[in-house]
This record gives sequence, structure tokens and C-alpha cells, in this order.
Amino acid sequence: MGKSAHSIAAVVVAAGQGERVGGPVPKQYLPLDGRPLIHWSLSRLATHPAIHPVLAVIHPDFAALHEESVAGLDLPPAVHGGATRQESVLNGLEALRVHAPDLVLVHDAARPFVSEHLLDEIVRTLRERRCGVIPVTGITDTVKYRSGNEVTGTADRDRLVCAQTPQGFPYAGILAAHQQAYGRTFTDDSAVAEAAGMTVVTVNGDRANIKITHAEDFSVPSDQTEISTGTGYDAHALVAGDHVMLCGVRIDHDRTLEGNTDGDVGLHALVDAVLGALGCGDLGRHFPVGDATWSGRPSGDLVRVARDLMTERRATLLHADITLMCQKPRLAPRQEEMRHAVAGLLGVGESRVNIKVTSTDGLGFLGRCEGIAAAATVTIRRPLP
Ligand code: CTP
Ligand code: MG
Repeated sequence: MGKSAHSIAAVVVAAGQGERVGGPVPKQYLPLDGRPLIHWSLSRLATHPAIHPVLAVIHPDFAALHEESVAGLDLPPAVHGGATRQESVLNGLEALRVHAPDLVLVHDAARPFVSEHLLDEIVRTLRERRCGVIPVTGITDTVKYRSGNEVTGTADRDRLVCAQTPQGFPYAGILAAHQQAYGRTFTDDSAVAEAAGMTVVTVNGDRANIKITHAEDFSVPSDQTEISTGTGYDAHALVAGDHVMLCGVRIDHDRTLEGNTDGDVGLHALVDAVLGALGCGDLGRHFPVGDATWSGRPSGDLVRVARDLMTERRATLLHADITLMCQKPRLAPRQEEMRHAVAGLLGVGESRVNIKVTSTDGLGFLGRCEGIAAAATVTIRRPLP
């Protein structure tokens, strides 16, 4: 179903101060794996095919920071929140009136890891049941009642669940419920709906869908990232000269590697492998043959470009494995030096780099010392698209 017909609108509340995390900037604007927390939450909703529009509710003091943080997302202008979460939700719901949505989701900006699967489940149940729908998780700790520090009882854990967001509702119903609730305090929108007599049903929430509350919550769970690999290969001819550059190290030799740059096949294979892992094409696309910009430049400059692409895409290099193939010069004594140079160029520890050298038993162009070749495999971790 397209975004226009029977869309479900969303209100994402982001007007809090994040006092428990602390610091001058509210938690929703702090980086989480290189991207503002609020960008995660808003983009997860805004890219869902059934959800449109996604309206952010913000604190007026952080309007500029908000704009900067959500650049590139398809969102209507943000509206201002109130002194409490409940007031912020009400402001958001009222601002949606012009869109006259049939159904609405209310979500905390502080929950960046909401999955597409959970959104599907809430949307499906909301369309089917047309009542309140909330995601819940079971409780694993035993829950106690206490007075002061004395325990006065133990709750029946089997009857209790923890409520998450997004919570879904018929739009007119939840707007009226919030208006009626004004002045009375409720801690989630389901409680507001319950107080107005609306039926609320549960769907299975997701333990990964945590609300970032304290500073230590700012780490990205492994199921929010993916691992990808890329391979690279390059070969250059040996011509008259006095040294070769291999993996960023100068090695004396009676010949040199031909090429537009310094001919460092090791680094060229490495850069191609990084481009492969990022899904960014190949060396020829980024550094066209004959492009004067790269003429005579050290190949380390190409590695720097590849590093910038990784940074832009918030990718982390986990491992680079390079195999140099050549008959002469003998490279084994220089392996550690090359490892050190490549780690430096990539900005990673040496344990993340491996350099292998092999001769080809005198076979082929490599065996005849007509050229030197290199192959590389790079492994990266990057955010889920
Ligand atoms: N929120 C809001 N308006 C408020 C208070 C909170 O829109 N007046 C939003 C927060 O930005 C957050 C969500 O409600 O996305 C859940 O609130 P919470 O996790 O408590 O965030 P903060 O109130 O910002 O944090 P703290 O309570 O630690 O100050
Ligand atoms: Mg709060």
C-alpha cells in the first residue's frame, strides 16, 4: 500500500531535556554510532511504507540543532512540545489535525532501535482492531512492593508487562483522550487511552527496542549493524627504475612499478576491497586513469579517500588482509614494516591488518618478473541500511 492511501501518521516526541543522561545537549541529539539518536528513530518510522507523515515534537531551544540532525529526512516542520511528555504528545496530535489521519503512532525519540518487524506488527494489528495497540515485553526480575526500605509484598509477575513505544491508536480517539486527560498525569499514551475507556491490546515488543535513558545506553547492539566484505586485485608492470612502493613501504629494487600514481599494487588492491565492502564501485570510478589529480601521488592518498568514504557511511574497518604476489624482490623481511604502514594509513591497530607474500613458483608474468600483483580482502561493520 502506498503512503498516500490509508496512511498512518506518527508523532515522535523529542522535547525532553535528557536530564538523566546529563550534559548541555539533550540525549536525542547526541551521536549514536556517528548519527544523531533522533535520526535513527525518525528515519525508522519515515522509511516505513505505511507511515506518513512523521511529525517531530521538539523543544524550541534546540530547533536549529534539530534541523541539522534530521537533514535529508522527509518530514513536515517540527512543532514545539510542552513541559511534560504528555503535553508534548498533545501538541503533536493537535498539529496533525491538518492531515486528518485515521490512525496514529506515538513514539519516543529516545527509542532508536524500533525494528521494521515491530512496526509491521503494530500497523497490522492497528488496522485490524482499530483500538489502542501497544508493544510489551515480559518481566524477568521479581517485582517487589516496598514502604521505605521494607518489603511489603511481591507482585504476580505473570500478570505484568513493560510497555514500549510506538503505541498505535485511532487518531480521533487518542486526541480526545489526551484533551480530557489534560491536567492529570499519565506516564504513557496507553494510560491516557485506558482512562478514556478505550480498549488497548498488546503485541509482542522487542527487547532491543530500549529507551535510551542513561549515558551507558549509548552503544549500538550488534543486531543493528551488519558485516560486509570486499575483495580487490591489481597488477602493474615492472619497468626500469631503482625501487618499488608496496603497501606504503619503499623497497630498493633494480626495477620500478609502472603507473599513474606510485604504482603501489598492495594499496590499490586494498582500496578496491574497501570500495567493494562499502558497495561503492571500484578504483577506476573514483580515480579515473589519466586524471591528472592523482598523477605521481603516493597511493596512501587513495587510502585516505577510502577512509573518508568509510567515515561518511559510518563504517568501521574490522580487518584487511593483503596478499602480494611477486618473484623479486624478496618481501618477507619487510612484512611487519608493511603491516605497520597499512595500519597507520587505515587508522586501525596492527592486529586488524595482515600482509602475506607469495611467489608463484616462477610461473607466468609474475614468475618472469614482468610485474607484481596484489589481492586484498576487507571486512567492515556498518549500520543496517
Ligand atoms: N519528552 C518530550 N517532552 C517533554 C519530556 C519528554 O517530548 N517535556 C520526550 C523525550 O524527548 C523522549 C520521550 O519523551 O523522547 C521519553 O522521555 P524520557 O526518556 O524521560 O526523556 P527526557 O525527559 O528527555 O529524559 P529525562 O527524563 O532523563 O530528563
Ligand atoms: Mg523524562
